[in-house]
Amino acid sequence: MRSASTMPATRPAPAVSGFVLGRRWRRTTLILHIIAGGAWIGIDVMVAVLVWTGRYGSDAEVRGLAYRALAAFAVWPMLTAGLICLLSGLVLGLGTKWGLLRYWWVAVKLTLNLVLCTLIIVALEPGMAAVAAYGRELGSGAQPPDEVSSLFFPPAVSLTALTVATVLSVVKPWGRIGRRDRRTTMAR
Ligand code: HEM
Repeated sequence: MRSASTMPATRPAPAVSGFVLGRRWRRTTLILHIIAGGAWIGIDVMVAVLVWTGRYGSDAEVRGLAYRALAAFAVWPMLTAGLICLLSGLVLGLGTKWGLLRYWWVAVKLTLNLVLCTLIIVALEPGMAAVAAYGRELGSGAQPPDEVSSLFFPPAVSLTALTVATVLSVVKPWGRIGRRDRRTTMAR
């Protein structure tokens, strides 16, 4: 990492925050950021498959196993990927010309990332004990609790938001916050 004053003249516009990511650090952080975002999407797809299997699986044993796997493995890997994506995104925003609240595409991604991580903690995680219990009792004809009936929403909401975030990252639309300049694609 370098201070703004030691940046070579050929580098892009300096970061707003006062520190600038050097080329190598920027690439490393961006790679981590993209891997975390990709892992997050992959975990969401896995969650969607488990929710589908739990609902429509071939027999009670497979369905129960899907719910128990969901309760055991979904939340923490998803939250970890979301937090790594958030932290690396914060570093990229603060350490480059993009800033955090300077361009609409970054500000919207920041909002989406914060909302999704909050939903994992306050809406998804608390219901997992009931999902696991239902997975264990499914063979005995137990009725699904609300936590199980509403399980389609988390992967649907998350996959939609992460797709929007990915599109925003590539297209970088809407220009700068508080400026009339609304070019659709920002030059890098
Ligand atoms: C919500 C989940 C997120 C996903 C799926 C995501 C995805 C991506 C992808 C694919 C890129 C590469 C774009 C390219 O190089 O053309 C990128 C870049 C970037 N992201 Fe994210 N991102 C997310 C969250 C965030 C957050 C929360 C922030 C800021 C707080 C952020 C800030 C940035 C910045 C500044 C870049 C450009 C880095 C550079 O050009 O050096 N991202 N993001």
